[in-house]
Amino acid sequence: MNLTVIGTGYVGLVTGACFAEMGNTVTCVDVDRGKIEKLMNGVIPIYEPGLDDIVVSNFKEGRLRFSTSLAEAMKESNIYFIAVGTPPGEDGSADLKYVLGVAREIGTQMQDYCVVVDKSTVPVGTAEKVRGVIREELARRGVEIPFDVVSNPEFLKEGAAVDDFMRPDRIIIGSDGDRARELMRTLYMDFSRNHDRILMMGIKDAEMTKYAANAMLATKISFMNEIAGLCDSLGADVEKVRLGIGSDSRIGYSFIYPGCGYGGSCFPKDVKALIRMAEENRLEPVVLQAVHGRNEEQKHVLSRKITARFGSDLSGLVFGVWGLAFKPGTDDMREAPSVVLLRSLIGAGARVRAYDPVAMDVARDEFPAAWFENGSLSLAKHQYEAVEDVDALVLVTEWKPFRHPDFSAMKKMMKQPIIFDGRNQYDPPRVKAEGFEYTGIGRR
Ligand SMILES: NC(=O)c1ccc[n+]([C@@H]2O[C@H](COP(=O)([O-])OP(=O)(O)OC[C@H]3O[C@@H](n4cnc5c(N)ncnc54)[C@H](O)[C@@H]3O)[C@@H](O)[C@H]2O)c1
Repeated sequence: MNLTVIGTGYVGLVTGACFAEMGNTVTCVDVDRGKIEKLMNGVIPIYEPGLDDIVVSNFKEGRLRFSTSLAEAMKESNIYFIAVGTPPGEDGSADLKYVLGVAREIGTQMQDYCVVVDKSTVPVGTAEKVRGVIREELARRGVEIPFDVVSNPEFLKEGAAVDDFMRPDRIIIGSDGDRARELMRTLYMDFSRNHDRILMMGIKDAEMTKYAANAMLATKISFMNEIAGLCDSLGADVEKVRLGIGSDSRIGYSFIYPGCGYGGSCFPKDVKALIRMAEENRLEPVVLQAVHGRNEEQKHVLSRKITARFGSDLSGLVFGVWGLAFKPGTDDMREAPSVVLLRSLIGAGARVRAYDPVAMDVARDEFPAAWFENGSLSLAKHQYEAVEDVDALVLVTEWKPFRHPDFSAMKKMMKQPIIFDGRNQYDPPRVKAEGFEYTGIGRR
């Protein structure tokens, strides 16, 4: 099949590359010229394991193309995936300007029957808006062209995106037209061979499923973080509690790791957007507000523990920070807890030396240039360089190379052998036996 994917970010590029890998011909379109030029030169603008191989090989085979012109790409296909960003607006609602902008352009260019697929995460009712905008453009042109709008939310995880797309838990297709449903089923059949993973439903059901899934996962994390806070105060060990409750098959072990808060481009914005949807419908989203509130609080948990240990004035102190990406496996720093931590440490007068296996380039753009110029923040070339002469190490992102570090070498390098473990990666007795002072999240 011939497809167009509009928006070549984490979702769009993975979607385009994976469909091409299955033998389809895909044009990925983006307004960001720099990104498209990089891709045409074999440079992948984001870090995502396994993505570079399939992008480069499918580009060479001619199945994957890149363009800045939606009009040109549309001539080649009749299925258009909208995978542009839906960032939070001022009031928390998802900003639909990119999605509706693309819909308008599709309306101005379409010539024959086509299927417009909302792949971006969009509020319930957006497919109707997309349909409305396209109809307006067709009416303006004075033409009648049949088309369908389908909701096909994406559930991939950054860091495992290619794998998730290739072997999805489920493929949600929200549609009210038989023709579109069949086209989508045919397209996704290759990802569903082992057993049927395709769930057909109404458009609004599909739109809501995406938000409900992310909100449920965020809820599990925030719940566990709240329990961790209680454990801290009451002298219980949240890691024991985690195992104790995870063993209950009704609860399960996944997404109950306590830590320094969730970040990324999805959970925070999707929880906020769902809150907004509830408020717009005069409902009080008490659970969702609590999930969001707990997470905002949780992003300060490390700096609070640090000031409890060193005092509120941190001038003269240097902190080594391991991990800047919002989670391992990605260079994405959107809404990352590391950003809140660094602002707070540097705001209190500390200097920070940070290291992340892949997010260093993103970090250079993320933080104020003044911090680099005045020495408040430096980026280390290696994880051990980040701990040289520091007063404490703060672990923020649980990358694998941080799991079993050389503690005895670190003890010699650090000015003070103190570890703040924002992801409960280390075994407290072992770290203490190595001569470190240890603070985790919710651990005795
Ligand atoms: N990142 C994830 O893990 C993830 C997972 C599931 C769903 N989603 C959802 O998918 C959507 C995209 O997320 P992302 O992380 O890939 O975003 P992203 O910011 O990485 O990429 C969006 C891309 O769209 C491009 N774009 C904007 N307007 C355009 C236009 N008019 N024409 C062509 N390109 C345009 C931007 O230049 C950018 O490259 C969001 O709604 C997000 O919530 C993201």
